[in-house]
Parts: sequence; structure tokens; C-alpha cells
Amino acid sequence: MWTSVRPWFEDKCPHRAAPLSEGRIEDDGTLLCAYHAWRFDGSGKCTSMPQASSRAEEERVKSNPRSCASVRPTMEAQAGGNREYVRDQQNCAEG
Ligand code: FES
Repeated sequence: MWTSVRPWFEDKCPHRAAPLSEGRIEDDGTLLCAYHAWRFDGSGKCTSMPQASSRAEEERVKSNPRSCASVRPTMEAQAGGNREYVRDQQNCAEG
């Protein structure tokens, strides 16, 4: 029996390819990259880039598909805690 769907992030930030595994999950559920603090939601969409020089620049960069982290869904089994891929789902970088 499946209990939950969780995103699996490729260990590579779309900004400068830093390992996302060195980041952390914030209180709002976003994944924070440890290097320049870009944040990504569960679909891989960039939700924050604090070093942007203006709100307009931040919105322009966030809307670029190249700013999306690569994400694939996984499902977690109730017994044993094994995770398996269940389907290939589009993330924000794929439209
Ligand atoms: S390398 Fe991840 S935010 Fe810059």
C-alpha cells in the first residue's frame, strides 16, 4: 500500500549546479539551496532568489524554465519504507 507522494530532487541546483543535498527544507516546505539561497517548491519551480537586484529581475528569472530544479515523484510504501518511482511526471522545467 502506498502512503504518500514525495518529490525527489536531482542533486544539482539549476543555478550553479551546487548539490541540493547540502541545502535544507524550510518551514514552508521549500527546498533551500545552501549556496545562494534559491528556493524550490515540490514541482521544482524556483520560488525565491534573494540576490536579485529587483523584483522584476527575480520574476523574470523565476519564470525561466532553466531556473527549475529537476524533480521526479516517488511513492513511499507503507510496509518497509521502500521508495519506488511510480511514473514520470512533468516538472516545471518541462512545461
Ligand atoms: S547554486 Fe544553488 S542557488 Fe546558486
